[in-house]
Amino acid sequence: MDRLPDFDEVLKAREMRNGFLKYTREALALLPAMDHPRILDIGCGSGSATMELMRLSGSEVVGIDTDAAALSEMRQCLETDGLGDRVEVVNTSLLDVGFPAESFDVLWEEGVLHLLDSGRSLPVCHRLLKPGGFLVMHETVAWFEGIKAHLLAGGFCIVNEHLLPKRCWWTDYYAPLEERIRRLREERGHDIASAALAQHEREIAMVKADPDRFDCGFFILQKARSE
Ligand SMILES: C[S@@+](CC[C@H](N)C(=O)[O-])C[C@H]1O[C@@H](n2cnc3c(N)ncnc32)[C@H](O)[C@@H]1O
Repeated sequence: MDRLPDFDEVLKAREMRNGFLKYTREALALLPAMDHPRILDIGCGSGSATMELMRLSGSEVVGIDTDAAALSEMRQCLETDGLGDRVEVVNTSLLDVGFPAESFDVLWEEGVLHLLDSGRSLPVCHRLLKPGGFLVMHETVAWFEGIKAHLLAGGFCIVNEHLLPKRCWWTDYYAPLEERIRRLREERGHDIASAALAQHEREIAMVKADPDRFDCGFFILQKARSE
């Protein structure tokens, strides 16, 4: 049987994801200037934001994720770009990380914390941050509103937010992806069985049903300097 192609490559999903890095850059610019901050990218996936953070901050960045395949894609990109020594890649859950307390100046996460039990994830984030350090979240406004009280009670204060244009995840990512998948199925047969395609289609259906619910922002929180 023929091997299936890498559909993410065919669909240019990474390129579309990278179109959102402009918001990552804008959010990073909202942090105060820091001298070589130590940054942890939580749930870094294949490393789009991790690599951008590394380039912009001039720092070493650590990326963690539970998805070994996504991490190996990131390692390949780092090798190709000759950046292998600037990013530490660790295959672990945030909930099991072994880093010492107060290891990081900045914790970054894009689309990850809403997947986890905040009763477990927020104390880990708080422990990993140095006093005065920042937790930057790229999440839906709706999820953030629901978690705000928990963040404040957990020793964080909200210092800034940067809202993305309304519905941009639908217009600039999921709608073009839907069209590319439609064309792909037309060209290669409607019954292509691929876990990656099915996952994209589930996400597309969810966002398409209610694009406003997926309006997002970057939310910048700070750990109190002393408690
Ligand atoms: C929506 S993707 C976002 C990936 C990446 N941050 C980005 O913006 O391209 C969510 C990521 O969170 C990762 N993830 C899920 N649970 C995790 C956990 N407990 N610890 C670390 N990463 C996790 C998934 O494997 C996936 O790569």
